[in-house]
Amino acid sequence: MTTGSLLAADLVIAVLATAGWLGGGAASAARRRPLALGLAAFALLATLARAITITALARAGWWFAAEKVLIAAPLSLAAVAVAGPRLLRAAGDIRSVAVPLLFAGYATSGALLVTVLHGYPASAGTGLLAVAGVVAATAVSWRALGARPSRTVSRATLAVAVAALVTGTGLTAAPDGVPAAPHDHGYRDARTVDEPTRRFTLTAGTATVRVSGRDVAAWAFNAQVPGPELTAVVGDVVEVTLRNRDIERGVTLHWHGYDVPNSQDGVPGVTQAAVLPGQEFVYRFRADQAGTYWYHTHSVSDVGVRMGLYGVLVVRPGPMTGLDVTVPVHTLAGRPLPAPRTERVEAGTPVRLRLINTDSTTHRYALAGTAFRVAAIDGFDLRGPTPLVDTAVLIPAGGRYDLAFDAPATPVALFVDGRALYSTGPVSTATGAWPVLDPLSYGVASPAPWPRIDREFTLVLDRGLDLHELLPRYAHTVNGAADPDIPPQVVRLGDIVRFTIVNRSQIVHPWHLHGHHVLVLSRDGKPSAGSPLWLDSFDVRPGEVWEVAFRADNPGVWANHCHNLAHADAGMTMHLMYS
Ligand code: C2O
Ligand code: CU
Repeated sequence: MTTGSLLAADLVIAVLATAGWLGGGAASAARRRPLALGLAAFALLATLARAITITALARAGWWFAAEKVLIAAPLSLAAVAVAGPRLLRAAGDIRSVAVPLLFAGYATSGALLVTVLHGYPASAGTGLLAVAGVVAATAVSWRALGARPSRTVSRATLAVAVAALVTGTGLTAAPDGVPAAPHDHGYRDARTVDEPTRRFTLTAGTATVRVSGRDVAAWAFNAQVPGPELTAVVGDVVEVTLRNRDIERGVTLHWHGYDVPNSQDGVPGVTQAAVLPGQEFVYRFRADQAGTYWYHTHSVSDVGVRMGLYGVLVVRPGPMTGLDVTVPVHTLAGRPLPAPRTERVEAGTPVRLRLINTDSTTHRYALAGTAFRVAAIDGFDLRGPTPLVDTAVLIPAGGRYDLAFDAPATPVALFVDGRALYSTGPVSTATGAWPVLDPLSYGVASPAPWPRIDREFTLVLDRGLDLHELLPRYAHTVNGAADPDIPPQVVRLGDIVRFTIVNRSQIVHPWHLHGHHVLVLSRDGKPSAGSPLWLDSFDVRPGEVWEVAFRADNPGVWANHCHNLAHADAGMTMHLMYS
């Protein structure tokens, strides 16, 4: 069983146990004896079963189980200790076990709420808050059922509640000593590098574009979705003038995966101010990394990218040879882009398919009709990639894979989520059952480039209750906090930095650090065994633990966030800073 499914199973069992106890309590209050006993027995079993799931989770990693061991387990024990013996002695009036059963239900719901609303890290405050809630709810039920809690019970309730209120700040407060999130920098000017050799102008505006035969409202660069494809050759100085015609919420250009100087990174409020209607901003950087990249607005990025403010950036090592095809996949107004395309290709032509996922969720790509190699991932060439046949690849949100092959005499087709997007002739192959490539064991390994790690950070991804501008929201959190309350990772120039990224939620988080490519060290404790993988976007699936490292060699303040842009907007954004 994977850790992801264990997390899900544990959650389901906790919900069932809670429902069983509460249902049993209600049934006994209503004097429905068989129903009450049945539900209570079921709840007892479910509660005991959690000993297994919680132990297994703790063995997978403390991050997955901390609050379950420290808060859920004691509360479950209390539930069993209080309700169990009463059940055995419930010979007389079944109503006499109502309060113990309800107590057990409150105890397991309290623990459940801690997991669902707060998660990791467990704090004493959260635990006390849960206990106070349980005690208070039990006291109220007791009263409602006509009994009266004794003096001692009332006093104890009051004491616990007060203690919880005094210390119980764990749900809402940011960790101590959080440096303020970066804002209001003296933004540096773009024109610090040499004379440009490649010039582009991108004008952002609302537009109507045609997607699969239908007009849809979009936000577009130069009235097209995707925006114009920007190309350069290594050594070029690229200059892009961004103008905003009428996007009220502002635009910027972020060069996704391109490790430009910080002032050119295009993050509003961090590296520049958003470009408002009528304004312009000039980006300039030297193209010194070859590969497949893309650009997109970073202002209200969830909406902006979804509406169409993105395009391809390709930097070639030299003059083009063979056939070079870019396939930027996107979903616009629920319809897939680009439109399917067929072209005749002469046998023997070297072909490079540059696959780009500009959506917020993973896509599956399958190339049928030829053997191919994955030549590069996220712009970086792989070492010793071997030929693959009948193998699919999963590309995370924001990620790119370059597939290379020599065109065979027979047709070839690229399927994205089962749909042929690009082909050289008719191909009818079912690709749905193909195995998926694991890049961590593809290609030839090389020794780690660094003998040491200078700084480490652990990022535990989850969901939780958060106060955002005084309004509660169910945020996507990192270490129990949400943007702007997540402490930044502070590094020094030259540091070798390791991130351990843990996903204890039920959803995939495609991780994306700006300004640096990270080298994958391990996943779930297993060292990366294939070609070195230098990534800027990687899926951390539920229950996974990734260790990645990078050299801090690009000073500035860098966004570090989930590239499911809805998650990024709902709290899962933080920053890497240089001291
Ligand atoms: Cu492609 Cu911060 O984003
Ligand atoms: Cu996410």
